[in-house]
Amino acid sequence: MSDFDSKSQVQTSGRDSFASSFGVIAAAAGSAIGLGNIWKFPYITGMNGGSAFIIVYLVCIAVIGFPVMLSEFMIGRKAERNAIGSFKKLSPGTPWFLTGWMGFLAAFMILSFYGVVAGWSLNYVFQAMTGSLSGLNPQQMGDFFGGFITGTISPIIWQTIFMALTGYIVYAGIKNGIEKWSKILMPLLLLLIIVLDVRALTLPGAGAGVEFLFKPDFSALTASGVLVALGHAFFSLSLGMGTMITYGSYISKKENLGKVAMQVTIADTVIALLAGLAIFPAVFAFGIEPGAGPSLVFITIPNIFNMMPGGMIWSTLFFVLLSLAALTSAISILEVVVAYLVEEVKMSRHKGTIIATVSITLIGYLCSLSMGSTFDTLFFGKNFFDLMDWTSANVLLPLGGLFITLYVGWVWGPKTTLTELSNNGELSISYLGVLMFLCKFLAPLAIAIVFLNGIGILSF
Ligand code: TRP
Repeated sequence: MSDFDSKSQVQTSGRDSFASSFGVIAAAAGSAIGLGNIWKFPYITGMNGGSAFIIVYLVCIAVIGFPVMLSEFMIGRKAERNAIGSFKKLSPGTPWFLTGWMGFLAAFMILSFYGVVAGWSLNYVFQAMTGSLSGLNPQQMGDFFGGFITGTISPIIWQTIFMALTGYIVYAGIKNGIEKWSKILMPLLLLLIIVLDVRALTLPGAGAGVEFLFKPDFSALTASGVLVALGHAFFSLSLGMGTMITYGSYISKKENLGKVAMQVTIADTVIALLAGLAIFPAVFAFGIEPGAGPSLVFITIPNIFNMMPGGMIWSTLFFVLLSLAALTSAISILEVVVAYLVEEVKMSRHKGTIIATVSITLIGYLCSLSMGSTFDTLFFGKNFFDLMDWTSANVLLPLGGLFITLYVGWVWGPKTTLTELSNNGELSISYLGVLMFLCKFLAPLAIAIVFLNGIGILSF
C-alpha cells in the first residue's frame, strides 16, 4: 500500500476498499445486474413492442445512464464517504447532503420489495429442483404463483432467507464480503446465462424471438414507452440512490473511473440483452404472448421449460441465475445503509449490518403481506408493495440522479471534474466536453421530464 501514499491521502485512513480492478468491476456490475435485467427488462420490452424500445433504452443508457454513473463514482471516490457523508464532506454547510438522504430512504424502500421478489425466486429454485413445477399446465402455473405470493408465511420465510444471505455478505465487509462474493458469483452468472442462451437459440422457431428483439418496428413504440426506458435505465444501472457513490468511495485513486463506468454500463446492457435472448426465442418458439408483464419469468418461463426435454434442469438453472443476480444487487443496496450507519452514526459494522438488515426485512414483510389479504390497506390506490416500488422508482431515483448530475455539472464544473476523472492529471481525458454538456444540460433535462411524467404532472 505504500506506493499509494505519495500521491494523496489514499488508504491512509485504513478504510476498507476494493482490492483489485476485477473486483471493482465485478462488484459494480453485480450491483447493476439484477432483477432489473432478468425479470424486468424482458417483460417491459415485451410490453413495449420489442426492438424499437430496446434502441431507445440503449440511447438512454449512453446519454443519461453513463454520465450519472460516472458522476456517482467521482463524488464517492473524491470524498471517500457514504452517500450522505460524501456531500457533507465535499460541500459542508449546504443542503446537498439531502441528496444522500433521499438515497438512504430509497434504499429502504427498494430493498424491502426487492427482497420479496428475490425470495420468490429462491422459492422457485427449490420448487424447480424438487419437480413441483413440472407437469403444471399454464393455468395451474398461474394459480401456483398467485397462491404463493398472496400467502402469509411462505413468501416471508423465503424473503427472510434471502435477506439473511444479503446481510451475511455485507457484514464481512468490502474486500472480504462484497468483492469476494461478486468475483465468484458474477462469472457464474455469465456462464449460466450463456448456457440458457444456447438452449433457447437452438430451439426450432427461435428466429422469431430474435427478430422481435433486433428488427425495429417503431410503430410499436409509444411516448410512455420512451419514459419507461429512461426510468429503467436508472433502475438497471443502480443509479440515483448513492449506490455508486458508496461503491465509488471504495475504488482506488489509481483506477480509471471513465473506463470502469463504461465497462459496468456495457456489462449491464449485454446481460439484459442476453436475458432477452434467453427468453424471447423460447416465448416465440412455443407460441406464447410476449407481453405477459411482471409474471413473465414466474409463470411464462416455467411453462416454457415444461415444454422442453429436461425442463426441470433448465428451470432450476434459470432461477439460480435470477437469485444470484438479485443477491449481488441487494448487497449493494444494503451497503448504502450500512456505510452510513458505520461512518456517520459510528456504529460497528456488525451492529450496523444487523440493524439495517432487520429493519429492512421487517418493512419487506409489509410488502409481502400486502400482496394478499393480510395487509390490504391501500395508499393512494396502491398496495404497500407498489407504493414502495412506485415512490422509489418514480420520485426518489430520478430526483437523486437529477441532483447528482447538477452537482457535477454546476458545482464542480470542468476543472474539478477533470482533476478527479484524470486522477490528478495522470490520465488524458478526451471526452470532458461531452461529459460536461451531458451533466449540465441534457441529462438533467431528460431526467426532469421523466420525473414530472412519473409523478403525473406532465403526461404523455
Ligand atoms: N440495478 C439492480 C437491478 O437491476 C437493482 C439495484 C441495485 C438498484 N442497486 C440499486 C436500483 C440502486 C436502483 C438504485 O436489479
